Amino acid sequence: MMKNLAIVLLAAGQGRRMKSNRAKVLHTLCGWPMVCHVIARALPLSPERLVIVVGRQGASVREAIASCLPQGRVTFVEQKERLGTGHAVLAAQRALSGFSGDVLILSGDVPLLSTNTMKDFLRRHRQRRCDLSLMSFQPEDPAGYGRILKDDQGQLQGIVEEGEALPAQLALGEVNAGIYLVKAKQLFPLLGKVRNDNKQGEYYLTDIVGLAAAAGRRCRTHPVQNPMEIMGINTRAELARADEILRHGILEVLMDAGVTIIDPLSTFVDIDVRIGQDTILHPNVSLREGTVLGEECVVETGTLILRSRLADNVKVKAYSIIEDAGIDEGAIVGPFARLRSGSQVGRGAMVGNFVELYGASIGDRSKVRRLIYLADIDVGDEVHVGAGVVTCNFDGIDINRTKIGDHVFIGSDSQLIAPVEVGNHAHVATGSTITRDVPQDGLYVTRGKIVMREGWATRYRKIAAMKTKAPGKAGKSPKKKNS
Ligand code: UD1
Ligand code: CA
Repeated sequence: MMKNLAIVLLAAGQGRRMKSNRAKVLHTLCGWPMVCHVIARALPLSPERLVIVVGRQGASVREAIASCLPQGRVTFVEQKERLGTGHAVLAAQRALSGFSGDVLILSGDVPLLSTNTMKDFLRRHRQRRCDLSLMSFQPEDPAGYGRILKDDQGQLQGIVEEGEALPAQLALGEVNAGIYLVKAKQLFPLLGKVRNDNKQGEYYLTDIVGLAAAAGRRCRTHPVQNPMEIMGINTRAELARADEILRHGILEVLMDAGVTIIDPLSTFVDIDVRIGQDTILHPNVSLREGTVLGEECVVETGTLILRSRLADNVKVKAYSIIEDAGIDEGAIVGPFARLRSGSQVGRGAMVGNFVELYGASIGDRSKVRRLIYLADIDVGDEVHVGAGVVTCNFDGIDINRTKIGDHVFIGSDSQLIAPVEVGNHAHVATGSTITRDVPQDGLYVTRGKIVMREGWATRYRKIAAMKTKAPGKAGKSPKKKNS
């Protein structure tokens, strides 16, 4: 645990500029709400206390944090009204009572700040024995940020928010990143002095800088080398830019760990996805929401995989969609396959094109190769399911399951009317409608009587031709055939 360090994370804001019904910090970057990225990066600092200020959609924010980071021990406090960043920090006062070290103030909308940069910041703050430090940077376009005011000697004097700044101040290139370290003993007395007599009518946290400087406290800026890290997300465009930066970071880590990514520009991998060594991702692949891929897998172009688990050596051919499914070692799925709702594909099994599996488990080395719909079914090992086979799992009232044993043959274009069972080594002839259980080693066939008449089609065509000759049915030339 880092001694004498507490963290306050501001996550109560409205996010007006996002034009959203959802609280800003809940907007996602590579699969996680942005606030979760901030927490994940702050946790390695092991603060004595981690206080998160929530407000707008506070319950959802708490829930999102709990689901991404169940292991992180945090204290939530509520900012009941959104009266500004200074007011938000005040909401953490009770949760910090008895704490007298440094308070690191982080912002829920600055998600790219790295753990290392936070550590450097703390080290510098302590080395220089500052009362207050703040991260600053020089963006290409300072619009939207608070400008840092310094005197002729370069001494920090305060921060002016963009809306309040004079034209000359607007031209200043150094801006406030919204990340601070302040001695707890000074933080709350300073906040008590902040007024809301500005254009927004808000209590600006930034005002404590001017107040501290005026009181002769030791205040310093900490210029950050990589401005990308402290980019604040206020708009959808900034959200997209941050997502892109984060995404490429995730891909770099994967490539370093031995994953081949043919086209990083068109590959989308969420932060909570794990991929084994020597797996190859083709262009236009999305791997989302906790998906895990083993080693030596190949995922071909156009494929989307969500909340699924693939063992080693699995091949997913182009344009497949896999949700909430598991695929065992050596299986081949796709192209154009759709797996969902808890489906499980066994070792070395093949699931081919235009096959949909819904709550289906397919045994080892079974073949389910083309134009097939299997729902709510358990299929054994080494089963052959022919083209066009469908399960009829819903009878209009209930959903029913189907069970197929090992080494079964289901001929093409058969329907399995659930609930029904087919025993081991049974053979279902092509075109059967299976309404009754098939015993082990049995044959099941349903077929209408065969009707076969020679010359019938010739006679039929003649009748058809006569009909078109009839008056009023102009168009086809009746003579053509005879000429
Ligand atoms: C803030 C700084 C600005 C700095 C910029 C850097 C102030 C007044 N301004 O501006 O100097 O350049 O960050 O990104 O601090 N929040 C609350 N409760 C509130 C208001 C905000 O919890 O009542 C939270 C927000 O959820 C957000 C953070 O505080 O996580 C920052 O608020 P935001 O409104 O985005 O501040 P900026 O205008 O970006
Ligand atoms: Ca902001």
